Amino acid sequence: MKSFTSLSVTMALLSGTTHAFWRMECHDRIALARIDPLVDPGTVSQHSHAIHGGNAFSMDVTYEQLRASECTSCLATDDKSAYWTPSMHFQYENGTTEVVRQVGGMLAYYLLFANSGEEIEAFPEGFRMLAGDTRLRNFTGPVPDPEKSLWTAKDKTQLLLGQKAIGMNCLNYAKDPEPSMYRHFLPDKDYMDANCVNGIRAEIFFPSCWNGDPDSDNHKDHMAYPDLVNGGTCPEGFEKRVPSLFFETIWDTYAFKDAKGQFVFANGDPTGYGYHGDFIMGWNVDTLQSGIEQCTNESGQLKDCPVFELQTEADCDKCKLSMPHVLSDDDCAGPADGLCGNVAIQYGPEYASALKPGNSEAPSAVPTPTTPVQAMPTLPYTTAKSAVTDQYGGGLSVANVNGIASQASEINAQAAAPTDDAPAAPAPTQPPAPEQPHGSIVSTTTYTSAGVVYEVAIEEVAVYVTVEAPAPQKRHAHHMHHRRDREHGLLGRY
Ligand SMILES: *[C@@H]1O[C@H](CO)[C@@H](O)[C@H](O)[C@H]1NC(C)=O
Ligand SMILES: *[C@@H]1O[C@H](CO)[C@@H](O)[C@H](O)[C@H]1NC(C)=O
Ligand SMILES: *[C@@H]1O[C@H](CO)[C@@H](O)[C@H](O)[C@H]1NC(C)=O
Repeated sequence: MKSFTSLSVTMALLSGTTHAFWRMECHDRIALARIDPLVDPGTVSQHSHAIHGGNAFSMDVTYEQLRASECTSCLATDDKSAYWTPSMHFQYENGTTEVVRQVGGMLAYYLLFANSGEEIEAFPEGFRMLAGDTRLRNFTGPVPDPEKSLWTAKDKTQLLLGQKAIGMNCLNYAKDPEPSMYRHFLPDKDYMDANCVNGIRAEIFFPSCWNGDPDSDNHKDHMAYPDLVNGGTCPEGFEKRVPSLFFETIWDTYAFKDAKGQFVFANGDPTGYGYHGDFIMGWNVDTLQSGIEQCTNESGQLKDCPVFELQTEADCDKCKLSMPHVLSDDDCAGPADGLCGNVAIQYGPEYASALKPGNSEAPSAVPTPTTPVQAMPTLPYTTAKSAVTDQYGGGLSVANVNGIASQASEINAQAAAPTDDAPAAPAPTQPPAPEQPHGSIVSTTTYTSAGVVYEVAIEEVAVYVTVEAPAPQKRHAHHMHHRRDREHGLLGRY
């Protein structure tokens, strides 16, 4: 079942400002495994990851080895990069955990955001980076984020920018999408059960300001966030610009709607504050550079980029890592007692203690606490296209929904659950190809960076998808209404 949320973004059309992007679709993961060549090189990693990209990925993979991958789970065949994040698990009250179904693989946006006069360079050979901090368990800024144009120096520390680069987007395709990176923590389970009927989209925005070194000891210090997370000014010493990476992974949390327990990331983080993402560049540098220069179609779709050779989704899905022998007994998907690697769940708010790599002890049951833990803030549902967008500064926002029909049909099929003797669910009907829709501008957003006012107008178009679901006696056609928000950049310079 493949489903992607396709975020349509076009930002900040400012003369001289780069604003293009493409959306790398990595269909299916190559592995769910305790492998992390950045944090735990050469050994079994602390916790499990959802891993995508070139299948030569290993505990000590090099650029050359990744390039020699036999295949990649991402759509562009040249992209042998490695993309990974902690996996999401559900822990029942009795301590048993089970991986949450990942909907599709993941998307890695390459956003070509830079200010006037700045050039975006391809990642060089050997480039690696990490975003986020696995040990964080709190958020040190106001909730929700103040409007970006009001950010002061204390909102712009690298710690806070990094914390604001995380998003836990509550998906409900029947409503307008929430803005990206609106909520920097996992909502509590009751909230998810009530609101997030299509799951949680975990998001992380990578830093795009660079000091020119391919890597650093902690895989972070060679990079910095621009002062508005996804745009803005780079700090001194980090004046070079690379593409802004933004990862999205959808987890079907709603499948656990009536179960008692909690969601927890594989690193023992039930808050989401410790979410993180890792990247090892595996492109041919010239191909990537050509992409940066030529993939400027505002659709962001790979097929509209003249540079990349694409494979089929089926070929992406076939690409798997061969599991190292030392991990052959690992069962990170579960059901199993506790998290794989015997990872302790740490609730915070204090900084979590470091996990040990290579833990091979049998996981022991970690019951969910009965005493209250850190109270998570509550953020009401909000839409990316409402005034809230203006209030929070817009920028990269708005998701939606292309090719969700297959998932919608599955949910419908469940909703209309047939009795035992009812016919099996038919194959989902193909959604009609969306016509080139003409929408209406529903809102605009502005924010200021380096004396330049960016204005982003959001155009709304409706896409209708018809899905058939089985019922015991007869078939009902469900008409589902999805909205598609498209941003058109418009820009003024003041
Ligand atoms: C824990 O509870 C879940 C959900 O009820 C169940 O599927 C699982 O088998 C239980 N685990 C154990 C070890 O009893
Ligand atoms: C962008 O791609 C679309 C197809 O999605 C195509 O119709 C359009 O001509 C392309 N635009 C440019 C400027 O190449
Ligand atoms: C929040 O996390 C930071 C580490 O990033 C830590 O220094 C601080 O003490 C934590 N706050 C609380 C209230 O525990």
